[in-house]
Amino acid sequence: MKRICVFLFSGTGMTKYVVDKMKPALEKLQVQVDVYPIEKAQIPGIPFSTYDAVGIAYPVHAFNAPKIVINFAKQLPEALAANVFLISTAGEDHPVNYSSSRLLTRILNRKNCHVFYDKQLYMPSNFAIKYDEPKVEQLMAAVNAQIPQIAQDIANSASCKRESGFFSKFMASVGRAEWFGAVFIGKLFYADQKCCHCGMCADNCPNHNIVNGEHIRFQWHCGLCMRCLYLCPRHAIKVRQPFTFISFDEWYQNEELSVGRKD
Ligand SMILES: Cc1cc2nc3c(=O)[nH]c(=O)nc-3n(C[C@H](O)[C@H](O)[C@H](O)COP(=O)(O)O)c2cc1C
Ligand code: SF4
Ligand code: SF4
Repeated sequence: MKRICVFLFSGTGMTKYVVDKMKPALEKLQVQVDVYPIEKAQIPGIPFSTYDAVGIAYPVHAFNAPKIVINFAKQLPEALAANVFLISTAGEDHPVNYSSSRLLTRILNRKNCHVFYDKQLYMPSNFAIKYDEPKVEQLMAAVNAQIPQIAQDIANSASCKRESGFFSKFMASVGRAEWFGAVFIGKLFYADQKCCHCGMCADNCPNHNIVNGEHIRFQWHCGLCMRCLYLCPRHAIKVRQPFTFISFDEWYQNEELSVGRKD
């Protein structure tokens, strides 16, 4: 039996949805799958040598892998020499996203890893634009239809590469400014009077950016993953002007699209 592991980062559950579907599809093909949430992964304890392949799954943020994923990849052991597959989710099927794995792949190559598979899937957007229900259903049906083939490909170490042109490479470089922008935009988050101090936002922030004290306080390490905004049971977290547009009032109704929570 083959063994693989997947390091998963999912701000609001879209990428987790894909990995949750992939796991049973791979197990059907006699591939054992261990999933490690990136925000909790303890690299020294991970038995890398026992895995036939290592996966990294992430949402596209500003045409890139999120900074938390890049930082995680940098911490992977030197000379890891693993076969790596990448799964990303984006809100838009647009060539501008096609270089999202470029920096990540470069870092992995430095660790002597071979990225054999790089697949991007399109899920409902969690940023600025909320899709209507027919589009959500259409996107999810398209993802579900692709899962068996993705599982087959990974089980068979088949290759999957995306052509990325100058434009997407340029946009990926420019998009990394979002890492700095995120900490400033995160400072414009606030909890309004509906907050009941349940602590759910602070407990689930992957960057430990929220302090649940007398007031909910947002610090300087926001990664703009959007989790706290949609996880809050009181819809109390808001963003000040001029960035109110980044979140929508209500999360998707589809119950399979749950916002990620700490187990
Ligand atoms: C800060 C931020 C930036 C984003 N940038 C892009 C982008 O450049 N291209 C895109 O297609 N989607 C973008 N999205 C949408 C997400 O990639 C998409 O909704 C993804 O499936 C969310 O996955 P998650 O729930 O696992 O975090 C962005 C989302 C956020 C929060
Ligand atoms: S999740 Fe919402 S209600 Fe709970 S502490 Fe955070 S802001 Fe307040
Ligand atoms: S503060 Fe909210 S948006 Fe920022 S990293 Fe934490 S959970 Fe994500």
